[in-house]
Amino acid sequence: MTRAVEVTVAGGPEVMQLVDRDLPDPGPGQVRVANRAIGLNYIDTYHRSGLYPLPLPSGIGLEGAGVVQAVGEDGEFQVGDRVAYCAATIGAYAEAVNLPAERVVPIPDGVDFDTAAAVLLKGATVEYLLQRLFTLRPGHRTLFHAAAGGVGLLFGQWAAALGAEVIGTVSTEGKRELALAHGYSHCLLSGEHGWVDEVRRLTDGEMLPVVYDGVGAATFYQSLDCLAPRGLMVSFGNASGSPPALDLQQLSQRGSLFITRPTLFSYVATREDMRACAAAVFDRVLDGTLRVEIAQRYPLVEVQRAHAELEARRTVGSSLLIPQVD
Ligand SMILES: NC(=O)c1ccc[n+]([C@@H]2O[C@H](COP(=O)([O-])OP(=O)(O)OC[C@H]3O[C@@H](n4cnc5c(N)ncnc54)[C@H](OP(=O)(O)O)[C@@H]3O)[C@@H](O)[C@H]2O)c1
Repeated sequence: MTRAVEVTVAGGPEVMQLVDRDLPDPGPGQVRVANRAIGLNYIDTYHRSGLYPLPLPSGIGLEGAGVVQAVGEDGEFQVGDRVAYCAATIGAYAEAVNLPAERVVPIPDGVDFDTAAAVLLKGATVEYLLQRLFTLRPGHRTLFHAAAGGVGLLFGQWAAALGAEVIGTVSTEGKRELALAHGYSHCLLSGEHGWVDEVRRLTDGEMLPVVYDGVGAATFYQSLDCLAPRGLMVSFGNASGSPPALDLQQLSQRGSLFITRPTLFSYVATREDMRACAAAVFDRVLDGTLRVEIAQRYPLVEVQRAHAELEARRTVGSSLLIPQVD
């Protein structure tokens, strides 16, 4: 028996309920992980609200870190191993989960459970955004929205370590200070008119080769306006709602722009990619490139409050759900 969060109908945070659930022994190729920390990600709110529809009833959550409690046949893991996972199956908001072992990664010595659950999915996202989707190089300038968020604070640090100059946007003065302490060279207030002009001024009119937009509806066209001719728009999230439908003329009028709408899952689809990506993230935690800011911890029973605060823009950095450990 385990306690897990279940969604039976799409809706607001109140649709998530903690229920008792039988957990079978892990089958062939599976491991059971007792979660010590669960990563909260914005995509969880899309699953809960129905923006990304799930077959219901469903568990929720994509990321956790904990201890292997039981193994099925053919597994490479042993009971007691410290592991983390992301983008494996949906249902991480639980005391324990069964997972395909091939999606699970070992946590290296020197990285604790909380850090692993706070960094793996968000750091893996940053890895593919700045190393594989586009290769950020010294001297590149770029723009990243929600700079003080979970992905945002990691992006600023990793991009700065690569020698790139990153302009962030945030909604408050406090978030601005935080972003500037995490690698951003400049940070603009997204609620103020004229921030696109400020990007023009900061780049001496050249604008940017690549823009990363996880905010969506509220920023989409302004993000396009920040690109240099032949620049790349990376639309990777919808925190303010889905971006508008796009008339391709908008790309030609702004100078032969490119656009992509990527997901982490297609960048860590194979076991090898998942392993390499996780190793790159943990290496950067261990060598000090990434400071992981865990600014919110919620007991698992307070999952509704955790989602409400994330959606109300009251969080910064990473948030964790902590299951009761007996
Ligand atoms: N495609 C992928 O592979 C992938 C993977 C991971 C994450 N993502 C996306 O990356 C983005 C960041 O994820 P995260 O988990 O790190 O979340 P987060 O950045 O910690 O939280 C979302 C932030 O978005 C900003 N925001 C702007 N308008 C908003 C609105 N109307 N409502 C709520 N928030 C708004 C807020 O920052 P300000 O108050 O400063 O504006 C808020 O703090 C999300 O869009 C997520 O879906 C995509």
